[in-house]
Amino acid sequence: ATTLGASAAESGRYFGTAVAANRLGESDYVSVLNAEFNSVTPENEMKWDALEPNRGSFTFANADRIVTQARGRGVSVRGHTLVWHSQLPGWVGGLDTNNLRSAMNNHIDEVMGHWRGQIHSWDVVNEAFEENGTRRNSAFQQRLGNGYIEEAFRRARAADPNAKLCYNDYNTDGQNAKSNAVYAMVQDFKSRGVPIDCVGFQSHFNAQSPVPSDYRANLQRFAALGVDVQITELDIEGSGTAQANNYRSVTETCLAISRCTGITVWGVTDKYSWRPNGTPLLFDGNYNKKPAYTAVLNALNGG
Ligand code: G3I
Repeated sequence: ATTLGASAAESGRYFGTAVAANRLGESDYVSVLNAEFNSVTPENEMKWDALEPNRGSFTFANADRIVTQARGRGVSVRGHTLVWHSQLPGWVGGLDTNNLRSAMNNHIDEVMGHWRGQIHSWDVVNEAFEENGTRRNSAFQQRLGNGYIEEAFRRARAADPNAKLCYNDYNTDGQNAKSNAVYAMVQDFKSRGVPIDCVGFQSHFNAQSPVPSDYRANLQRFAALGVDVQITELDIEGSGTAQANNYRSVTETCLAISRCTGITVWGVTDKYSWRPNGTPLLFDGNYNKKPAYTAVLNALNGG
């Protein structure tokens, strides 16, 4: 096929992008979005600070704009993210154990309930581990202890039984202490029947953190536990042929794993990447297709 989304769909996969609600009025942005991507992830609009800035009072409008735009053209949405230490409103950090537990459960219920049946996959918990494999010292970890991740996944299953429930993290793309810790958690969840359906590998790559040589083996070992794997926030610093080759290799990695169900790049255009002055995406600042775009398209089409 001639677009990323349609090409990925030929093997039952999706090809998505992060989207910012405040770019949806820009015609070039929307043209590329609509032409190329058959999944979207709100880049910031479904985070806790955006959705529940004050306890119990929810502001869905910006995220709704993205969901409505996507659904209007028959595209499904990745939800990002329910329980994360970052982009948390200040009031959450001040809660005691009982209040934090009820606030977390209520947040999951209200947010997943609002879009029930409209989100193909949710990042239920994001970035809960440190590089050395220990738990990140977040408010959730401090007040609720190790069980908070399991609690969140159980609550999420009840709140939207149709969504795939994912654990999502960065620097877990290769085999290392952090990915080993996530692997052990998923293995434990599967053995005890804790609901988890997928693991998201953010895949933010640059010179300091290149595409790992054991990327495929790592994703494959997670898939072998009985979960889907998804590449959730892909971007690769660089330009030209080197960047294109890295994008080709990431795409081929997903295609080689039957349970790798989709790839999301972390933005439409270099112009709006979260990396300052970076050029890590598939379209340049003028929405021209880069060599990396062609490499991904050809890989999706088996070339
Ligand atoms: O909305 C405010 C605006 O009102 C204010 O004037 C402006 C001034 O700084 O800030 C705006 O908020 C910014 C927000 O993006 C929306 O543009 C925040 O400062 C900025 O910190 C925030 O950055 C986001 C970052 O997550 C925050 O952690 C990036 O856009 C987003 O791409 C990035 O995405 C994360 C994933 O969620 C998780 N994995 C890593 C990934 C990259 O860091």
